[in-house]
Formats: sequence, structure tokens, C-alpha cells
Amino acid sequence: MEKLDISVLFVEDEYLLRAIYERILNKFVAKLYIAENGKEGLELYKKYHPDLIITDIMMPVMDGLDMIEQIRKKDNNVRLVILSAYGETEYFIDAIKIGVNSFLLKPVETKKLISHVEELAKGILLEREVKEQERKRKKAEENLRKLNEELEKRIEERTIDLKREIKERIQAEDELKELNLTLENRVKEELIKRHKQQRFLIQKSKLESIGELAAGIAHEINQPLGGISMGLDNILFKQSLNSISEEYLTTKINALFEDIDRIRQIINHVRVFSRDQQVAASDVVEINEIIHNALSMVSKQYYNHNIKIDLNLDKEKCYTVGNKYRIEQAVLNLLSNAKYAVEEKQKKQNNEDYIKTITINSFIENNNIIFEVKDNGIGISQKNMDNIFDPFFTTKDVKDGTGLGLSITYGIVNEMKGHINAESETNKFTKIKISLPKYNK
Ligand SMILES: Nc1ncnc2c1ncn2[C@@H]1O[C@H](COP(=O)(O)OP(=O)(O)OP(=O)(O)O)[C@@H](O)[C@H]1O
Ligand SMILES: [Mg+2]
Repeated sequence: MEKLDISVLFVEDEYLLRAIYERILNKFVAKLYIAENGKEGLELYKKYHPDLIITDIMMPVMDGLDMIEQIRKKDNNVRLVILSAYGETEYFIDAIKIGVNSFLLKPVETKKLISHVEELAKGILLEREVKEQERKRKKAEENLRKLNEELEKRIEERTIDLKREIKERIQAEDELKELNLTLENRVKEELIKRHKQQRFLIQKSKLESIGELAAGIAHEINQPLGGISMGLDNILFKQSLNSISEEYLTTKINALFEDIDRIRQIINHVRVFSRDQQVAASDVVEINEIIHNALSMVSKQYYNHNIKIDLNLDKEKCYTVGNKYRIEQAVLNLLSNAKYAVEEKQKKQNNEDYIKTITINSFIENNNIIFEVKDNGIGISQKNMDNIFDPFFTTKDVKDGTGLGLSITYGIVNEMKGHINAESETNKFTKIKISLPKYNK
């Protein structure tokens, strides 16, 4: 038989009974304590707290009732069983008051004792089980409470972190906004500066091209002036000899007027050049005439520099619609680049056989007026080819170029719905070709 998992204190003063019950109980309870009287029983109780106490009533030193009374005061759970002789039944009322659970009369049968103890053990074990469950529940509750606390703490910490992060982010966003604003302002300022600079440079380039022309113009004026003063000298000389004929005078005066006309023409041209070109309107213009005009301003200068001008203009008149002064400016820009290119090549090569040549062609192709300026100068490297029409792109020194010539030319051609392109080979040639819509008269 498996032992009951309970502890029992058995209190009996009679040796024989003690021995008998000790043997019986020992067989089926897990733990058994034996006492000879109430005092001893009390001590064992205090030491071991058994689940069940079976006690006699009448005993020396301390009787069973005194013992269980003291125990009951402190312990409501312990099962108390009185094992008494028949003559002791008068104490049962007191025993019930104290809180005894049950009574057994001596001599009790083994079977009855066992079944009684088994019955009580069921209750004890059940109670223990309930207590254990309760303990576990409490422990689980405690764990849960701790977990909740921990969770709350972590949530609180995380909330603090999040608040801090949000604050930092807002701060960063504000800083970024401010930075953007500063940047925007700086870009605006820079753009305004760039714009001013560009306007200044355009103006400068206009002035420079006029300055460059001045030498040629002075020469052009000098020629007819020389003619006039020589003509007048001749007249005065003839007059002093009194050999002046009317016919001679008429021819001379006509020649003088021709020279004066030439000067007027040049002056008109310069005046037109200094007008505000923005307001000049479009008109039907003739390209060959414009090329001639442009050349008239620079040809002397080119001649002085030993630059050969190869002019192949179409015999037909080449009409297009545009502003002639602008087209003239475009031609002059191309000529100025060509001049620079051939001069540079000469400087680099130092070859006496080299003939600085600028070729100017005009012709009609597919209802377009084409004019080309080609030079046998330094050429344009492949790398720079993509940039030459960009404003401010220049490979020249500050004193030699602003980088605006080709971009202005590009603008002029574009405005006239035309096309411009460049072809070049380093150290061999550069050809700029402009195509403009032909005007059919
Ligand atoms: N005929 C050419 N031969 C060689 N390089 C040329 C020729 N034409 C233009 N280029 C190159 O293209 C660049 C840009 O020409 P662009 O006329 O726009 O400016 P620039 O001549 O440098 O200065 P600017 O014309 O304003 O005085 C030149 O600096 C040069 O490198
Ligand atoms: Mg130029």
C-alpha cells in the first residue's frame, strides 16, 4: 500500500497502545511523530507542524485537551482527532468547543483507524493542493504585476525617447528650413550677380568690338580725307598757275563729293552701330551686302596683318528677313574668332610659308541662305567642341576674349529661325556655317 503523503503526531501515555498504533500508522502515513504526553506532543507540534494529531485525553504532565486547546489557538488547519476510552466521553463537549474534528473510541479497529485517517488525509491533501494552486496563482499574479510594471516602465522610457526624438527632428527640420532659405537667398543673390556680370560683359564686348573696328574705320576715313586734301591742293595749284578749266574743276569737285560721300557712308555706319540695337526692327536684308559692310570695317586691319581674305559670294542676291546690324555683328564675331585663330597658329608655328587665310562663302541651298566663315587657324579640340556656343566659354586670356561671341551669334541666328554649326580639325581649320531661311521676293 502506498503511504499517505501526510504527517501525523500520535500522543498516548500507555506504552502498549503507543507501540501498536505506531506500527499501524507507520505503515501508511509518510511521517509519524510519537509523544508520551501533552507536553511532549506540544513540543513536537511546534517543531514539525504535523497535518494530523491523534491524541488520548487523560495523560500525565499535560492532558490531551490542554494540549489541543493551545494548538488550536494558533492553528486552525491542523486536524485533531481524540482517541479516548469509553469513560472519557464526558469531555467530548469541551473537545468540540476547542475545535476537535473527530472522535475514536479505544480500542479502535485497525481498519476503522485506517479509513478514518484516510478520510482526513483526503481533506488535508485537497487543502494542500488548493493552497499550492493558490500559491502558484499568486506567484503568477506577482509575475504578471512585475511584467506590467516593467512594461509600463519601458513604455514610459520609450515615450521619453520618442518625445526627445520628435523634438530633435523638429529642431533639425527648422534648421533645414533656415538653411534652405539662406541657400535660396544666396542663389538669388548669385543669380542677380551673374545677370549683372553678364550684362556688363555683353556691353563690354559690344564696346570692344566697336573699339576694334575703330582702327579700321579711322583708316577708311583717312583715305577719302587724303583724297579731298590732295584734290584741293591740286585745285589751288592749278589756280595759282591760272590754268584752271571749268571741266577740270567739275571733275575735281565731283571727285571731292565722292570722297565726302564715302566718309558720310562710314560715319552713318558707325552711327547705326552705336544705336540701341534692341529696338532695330526686322526687315528684308541681303546677306552679301551685310558681309561686304562687315568686311569694309575690318579689311584694312586684316590686310595690315597679312591675313588673306578669300571671298566667294553667290552672284545671286541672297535675301532673308532679319536685323542687318545684328547679322553684321554675327559676321564680325566669326571674323574676329577666325582672325585670332590664324594669328595664334602663326605664333605657334613660326612657319614662313604659312598664309593666314579666311574664306567667306555664301550660297543658296535648299531654299536656305548659307554663309560660311572658314579659317586655316589653330582649330577647336574635340573636347571643346560641345562648349563653344556656351556663354562665357573661352579658351582665351581675359584680355582676348569674353566667351560671348559665339553665344551671341547663336542667339541671333536662332532668333531668325536659322541654324549654326561648327566643324573643325585641330591645327588645320575651323568652319562655322550659318543657314538662314531664304526670303523669296
Ligand atoms: N575660328 C575658331 N578657331 C578656333 N577656336 C575657335 C574659333 N571660334 C571659336 N573658337 C573657340 O570657341 C571659344 C568661344 O568663342 P567665342 O567667340 O564665344 O568667345 P571668345 O572668342 O573666346 O571671346 P569673345 O568672342 O567674347 O571675345 C573660343 O574661346 C575658342 O576656343
Ligand atoms: Mg569670339
